Amino acid sequence: MALEIASGTGQHAAHFAAGLSGWRWQPTDAEPLALASIDAWCDGLANVLPAVHLDVLAASATSLPAPVDAVFCANMLHIAPWGTCLALMQLAARWLSPEGRLVLYGPYLEDEVPTSPGNLAFDADLRERNPAWGLRRREDVLAQAMAVGLRQRERVAMPANNLLLVLERAVPSRDA
Ligand SMILES: C[S@@+](CC[C@H](N)C(=O)[O-])C[C@H]1O[C@@H](n2cnc3c(N)ncnc32)[C@H](O)[C@@H]1O
Repeated sequence: MALEIASGTGQHAAHFAAGLSGWRWQPTDAEPLALASIDAWCDGLANVLPAVHLDVLAASATSLPAPVDAVFCANMLHIAPWGTCLALMQLAARWLSPEGRLVLYGPYLEDEVPTSPGNLAFDADLRERNPAWGLRRREDVLAQAMAVGLRQRERVAMPANNLLLVLERAVPSRDA
């Protein structure tokens, strides 16, 4: 079972669920208007559950089936306030199975890797649109993860200067 955070239009949910028939996919988003789009994109996919409203900043009130094998979140952290990072980590720490994975996708700044001109321009544009937005340092994201007992397992460079980050529990929890 995969729990997707910030599914947006639902295109990723439809793509992954169609290619991963052995997985059940639970799409979610904080924007109520997104839910109809997600359901429309996933129409006909038997392994996708109806989209659920989930704001990570208020997720403690959400009742979803737990534990899940994966939490997937693409392109939210830079287009949401920084507080959503810790909230996402807390959600993952609460919902992931002991061997579960948190999978993050998007553009990040990295201390040891020069930022591409495209990502610098994207960062400036985001901050102009909303001062609470902006590309996040991978190191800051991992510090928030460590605060709830998660750590980076894999860092995969993706096209267009994006990263796929796979996180796991530092110590598999017995009561998750
Ligand atoms: C740029 S879109 C990414 C959508 C999709 N994941 C993608 O990669 O195409 C950012 C999404 O984050 C969602 N979002 C913003 N703040 C959120 C929050 N606090 N909790 C959950 N989702 C949030 C927005 O509603 C929006 O759908």
